[in-house]
Amino acid sequence: MPVSVAALVERAPGEKRVALVPEVVAKLVSNGFSVMIESGAGEHAFFSDSDYKKAGAKVVSAAEALKATIILSVNRPPTATVAKLTKGQFLIGQLRSLVDAKDLETAAAKGVTVISLDRLPRQVSRAQTMDVLSSQASVAGYRALIAAAEAFSRYFPMMMTAAGTARPAKVLVLGAGVAGLQAIGTARRMGAQVSGYDVRPAAREEVASMGAQFLETSVESAVGEGGYARALTKEETARQQKELSVQIAKFDIVITTANVPGRKPPILVTKETVAAMAPGSVIVDTASGPLGGNVEGSVSEKRVVTKNNVIIIGSNIFAAQMPSAASTAFAKNMTAVLDSIYKDGQIVIDPDDEVIEAMLIPAALKGVAK
Ligand code: NAI
Repeated sequence: MPVSVAALVERAPGEKRVALVPEVVAKLVSNGFSVMIESGAGEHAFFSDSDYKKAGAKVVSAAEALKATIILSVNRPPTATVAKLTKGQFLIGQLRSLVDAKDLETAAAKGVTVISLDRLPRQVSRAQTMDVLSSQASVAGYRALIAAAEAFSRYFPMMMTAAGTARPAKVLVLGAGVAGLQAIGTARRMGAQVSGYDVRPAAREEVASMGAQFLETSVESAVGEGGYARALTKEETARQQKELSVQIAKFDIVITTANVPGRKPPILVTKETVAAMAPGSVIVDTASGPLGGNVEGSVSEKRVVTKNNVIIIGSNIFAAQMPSAASTAFAKNMTAVLDSIYKDGQIVIDPDDEVIEAMLIPAALKGVAK
């Protein structure tokens, strides 16, 4: 019997992505998997049920899809869905286990193998093809910059016309990880004058290599586990906010992408800083979600206009606003995960596979036959 893989309709609010796309379904089928897609799962990403059928998938109900051996999911499915999984099944996706692992641990205790991609050891080179964090952050950084350009009432590039010369927009990107660097690159391609900022020293060179200026503050070298940023102390946060505040008022556009894995995002832009910005300035907070955001006054999935006419756009699912590109990249990452656990027509978790092991929810690890 071929191993069955399924993708469900993503049920998180505002979510438009899907974990499998037809191109990847065809590849999985040719590799010997049987594939099920919940009817309508690709609709928002412009992949129809008939596209999936043509690629070799069975289009089924949610209940039927949940019987598959492997469930692929962009987000952690709702509690009731996770609760339906039984021993021997696999749940794989960006499951946010660093923020809340309760449902996942319950499933793992029953013998469900849970692979949470937000724990991917990205420094291992073999993990790069599985890196949904990078693929989705890259889409999000691009999309955030486009959202800023759309809301901005002036040009991005310098424009010389018979009616005069327009100066280029000044863009500042706070947090120069994957999303931030993509936002910087996109702003540069659009002709803006771009600066970037981060607390990881490695980011300095990366910002410069994209042709942007590095913004200096006295808070630097805040590196924690796995090469990620660590949370700043209270004193560092206050100093950072104060020093950034002086600089931010000079910019037309501010994109924030600062995150510390599993923690509340740091506030980089205070209310006072926003109040000092010029009317028509645009802030895009890509960290704005249930845990907070980088900008005081940003509201997740909303566009706020402040009293001084600064536009603040908040969302932590910008990747979902470009669902076709994001889903295609996500699905390709999924094939890399499947490749590493699929041997001779069977699913085998190799206990010596450091990449997969790092992503198994600890309780699940105990359930894996060694
Ligand atoms: P992220 O989404 O967790 O954070 C985004 C950015 O915010 C980071 O660059 C972080 O340094 C910055 N940040 C956090 N707190 C901040 C603060 N208070 N002020 C200013 N900036 C702040 O990170 P992302 O983009 O997912 O990945 C960045 C890290 O992952 C880097 O260490 C990068 O080198 C590493 N990485 C490594 C890969 C590899 O080795 N193949 C692949 C992708 C990422």
